[in-house]
Amino acid sequence: MRPAVPAIAALFALAACSGESEPPAPVLDEAAVIAASVPVAQAFQGDLKAQLQAALEAGGPVEAVSVCQQVAPAIAQAQSEASGAEVSRIAARHRNPAGGVPEELAQAYAALEAAPLADGKPAVQIVRTGDGAGAKVHFLSAIPMQDQPCSVCHGTSIEPALRAHIDQLYPGDLATGFKPGELRGALLVSWNAERFLK
Ligand code: HEC
Repeated sequence: MRPAVPAIAALFALAACSGESEPPAPVLDEAAVIAASVPVAQAFQGDLKAQLQAALEAGGPVEAVSVCQQVAPAIAQAQSEASGAEVSRIAARHRNPAGGVPEELAQAYAALEAAPLADGKPAVQIVRTGDGAGAKVHFLSAIPMQDQPCSVCHGTSIEPALRAHIDQLYPGDLATGFKPGELRGALLVSWNAERFLK
């Protein structure tokens, strides 16, 4: 029993000391963020690409635009429900007017724009925003422009009937004129930061 006393005294001394300075800020486990986000991003991209491809083959590009308009948000919704994250696509030059780049992610987006690929794979960025219960961690994964099938609807020369159809659905469309290899947009997976703080 007796030897425990100095140890307890030491503990009190420590507690008194640490009470004078701020407690250490929780650290974000970036590896865990990546491990949780990558499968969500891949599932979204895989589902959408398969449906886009099927729509292009079944009805051609004009038809596929309408499919994309309905299917992309539906897949985002399904992936959000399955993962517990918020899944969406953002782009500086966007087609869907709801898909702009939020101010707080602009710097990370610019970094992806400067280098869409890292070691031959889509580049990623992690951003922490807010604090307390509102703290979020955002995982951004670059979506590089590809020649096929993307150029048909986002490239430098869009077929006139398709152009007219896109303009009708998206009067403020900014998402054409892309060349292969440029950043077309980013997949955004946003989580409550709490689950990744340690
Ligand atoms: C058949 C036409 C078509 C093709 C082909 C196509 N897209 Fe799109 N894309 C669209 C439409 C329509 C939207 C808007 C969807 C919406 O309303 O959410 C869109 C939106 C996007 C967005 C979300 C940001 C924004 O601009 O609103 C990204 C990123 C994107 N496309 C990337 C690609 C990539 C990469 C490819 C090639 C793999 C591709 N798209 C092929 C029609 C197409």
